[in-house]
Amino acid sequence: MPGKVWIEGFVVDADAARVPVFDRGFLYGDSVYEVMRTFGGRPFALGEHLERLARSAALLEIALPDRALIEQATVAVMEASQEKEVYVRIVVTRGSGPIGLDPAFADAPRLVVMALPLKVPDSALYRDGVAVALVGARRSSLGAPGAVDPQAKSGNYLNSVLAVAEARRKSAYEAVLCDAVGRLAEGASSNIFVVRIGRLQTPPLSVGLLEGITRRHVIACARSLAIPVDEVALWPVDLQRADEAFLTSSVRGVMPVVRVDGAVVGEGQPGPITRRISDAYLADAQRG
Ligand code: PDD
Repeated sequence: MPGKVWIEGFVVDADAARVPVFDRGFLYGDSVYEVMRTFGGRPFALGEHLERLARSAALLEIALPDRALIEQATVAVMEASQEKEVYVRIVVTRGSGPIGLDPAFADAPRLVVMALPLKVPDSALYRDGVAVALVGARRSSLGAPGAVDPQAKSGNYLNSVLAVAEARRKSAYEAVLCDAVGRLAEGASSNIFVVRIGRLQTPPLSVGLLEGITRRHVIACARSLAIPVDEVALWPVDLQRADEAFLTSSVRGVMPVVRVDGAVVGEGQPGPITRRISDAYLADAQRG
């Protein structure tokens, strides 16, 4: 596998990077992470990703290494990769220790930073749009008793993994998850937006979803284009009857959605407001 990995203070070939089997990230998904991509060789919104990593770690009571170390490791591994554009993944696990859930068993947080050749979705997907499936898996609502706060970007993605499996069975590109009462929450690894009568709409954070960095930039782009933005509760019918829809994530950027569970959204092709927002987002990202 091409690419480089920073681990235990060294940059190694991606294939050679190893984590002990007693690492709690491996055993329990007891970790936090961030994913970003470079534009023009610079990681886009690195500061915002590091701030979200810190918030995720605080929510899960994982002590992060110093921000300076994370930054150094990120720069070192990116330089070593010698790729023009990279996919960067920063992972911090709670560490290793004797088997047992007690977080006190963990020795010290383990930092791993990966810099892999960037693989962006095929341009045909942006041109034609993608299909999504509304799946049975639920996003745990914010503040639901016993549920991990969806604002914590943890390594435990089982719910999303099963959601994507269901979406693939339905030949869909991405799964869309609802909350416990059936309101739209987000994609398995993306945020969801609809356009309705000239307004951009997306579920509010209070529904229980990850505050995507792309989501934040897209909202800002829409406002700068004088497109009104509503963070409002949305239901599956709002997606099915939308004029336009799209997904956002750091690697995919703005991905138009043209079908939901086999039914056509809007005109069945990427809409004009999606295009304007996507162009504005790309310009913003390329400026850095
Ligand atoms: N995931 N919601 C979920 C559950 C996610 O996992 C992600 C991103 C997003 C979008 O966030 P952002 O715009 O900050 O990338 C929303 C990353 C990209 C991943 O798992 O690869």
